[in-house]
Amino acid sequence: MTLRTITSAGGFPGPYELALDPGRSTVDTAIAVAGKAEAAQIDALFVPDLLTFGAQGTIGAQEPLIFTAALSQVTKYAGLIATVSTAFHHPFNLARLFGTLDHVSNGRAAWNLVTSSIGEENFGPGGLPSPEERYARAAETLEIVNALWDSWGPGALRLGPDGRAILDKDQIKPINHVGTLFEVAGPLNIPPLPQGRPVQIQAGQSAAGIALGARYAEIVFAALPTHDFARDFTQRIRSQARALGRTPGLPLIFSSFHATFGATEAEALRKVRERQESIDLDAGRALVANMLGDGVDLTGAPLDKPLSPDLVPDLAAIHRRRGRAEIFTDLIRRGHTLRELIVAAQDTGHWAIAGTPEQLADAVEERYRAGVLDVLSLNGLGDPETHDFAVNGLLAELRRRGIVKPGYLGPTLRDNLELPR
Ligand SMILES: Cc1cc2nc3c(=O)[nH]c(=O)nc-3n(C[C@H](O)[C@H](O)[C@H](O)COP(=O)(O)O)c2cc1C
Repeated sequence: MTLRTITSAGGFPGPYELALDPGRSTVDTAIAVAGKAEAAQIDALFVPDLLTFGAQGTIGAQEPLIFTAALSQVTKYAGLIATVSTAFHHPFNLARLFGTLDHVSNGRAAWNLVTSSIGEENFGPGGLPSPEERYARAAETLEIVNALWDSWGPGALRLGPDGRAILDKDQIKPINHVGTLFEVAGPLNIPPLPQGRPVQIQAGQSAAGIALGARYAEIVFAALPTHDFARDFTQRIRSQARALGRTPGLPLIFSSFHATFGATEAEALRKVRERQESIDLDAGRALVANMLGDGVDLTGAPLDKPLSPDLVPDLAAIHRRRGRAEIFTDLIRRGHTLRELIVAAQDTGHWAIAGTPEQLADAVEERYRAGVLDVLSLNGLGDPETHDFAVNGLLAELRRRGIVKPGYLGPTLRDNLELPR
């Protein structure tokens, strides 16, 4: 199977964009990116989310389901991935919202399920539940949502000989879910979805996140900074999925990808060097400490020596982002210096590489052929400085090599991702 491609559309507008016209939504920018993505035959548009003000430098994040619904009306082929947290939503609402997105987009909806590590101040009282509680809630939510999507049998709604709709109520069954957190009778109150179920993506990569993804996700979205890390992650999640009897090859591995392009290698490396030279090292130490889950003090640690493995935090005590702490713990164990960790922290642990489009295609091809990359996050389409590199450079090169398919395969997202119903 070929490598699938996804690009960010919408999400977090920068201060410039907001200040430009504070009264308007930034959907116009997302629509412009969506147009470019469809022209480049990119499989899907991704809308991230953060449920708090000011997190990770963002000052505004508009709601992804509303955004994807708007995008569905100005696009025809690209899938629409909305990031929505299970921590702060009710499963019945989620089943309806994503079900309706699948209807209004004629079968192009996908849910990027997140469990949230911030934003609890807006959903009190009670504070942020523990990672175990958040993942237990995500699992119960998925059981309910899937049961609701399946609550109409295949022949529940059909056309009679006179051309009128026949509703066979015997084929529409309640789900009668009585669980630890929720009681949901069902059935779902909207007709069967064009895709059966929207495509299910999950982002969260601690041990509990991997367990959830292995059981339910069709695609896992992960930060995989090195090839070794990607290989270990893929082996862990796929072996758990296999043990649960899932189809080999699932879940698909969707990696983030922070590309620095140059027309020559020297140009790309110069951009990286200039960025690295502008890093405030004290802020960098604090950022690495934050990546490690706080409680770690790096104030006096030498910059150019490997960090002591004694600094590795107790993962079980981390309340917010265990998966991110695991990435930086792994880099410490592999002997990275504090300076290298500060550089890695600028990309918050995501896969970050620099080079010409051909060189980046080599790196992508290497991971794809090693079986640790199925879906590439290809960004920069809305930026005049990177669009040409991303689309006419990297994407075109991947197509030339036969790694990315030449165009859309069908009207639904499942068709284009080659995922079964
Ligand atoms: C690649 C990736 C992308 C994520 N994107 C989002 C996002 O857009 N919004 C959000 O609230 N959380 C996002 N998360 C956070 C996760 O849902 C989760 O809260 C966090 O990773 C902590 O769980 P973990 O320790 O299992 O990784 C993302 C996580 C990963 C790994």
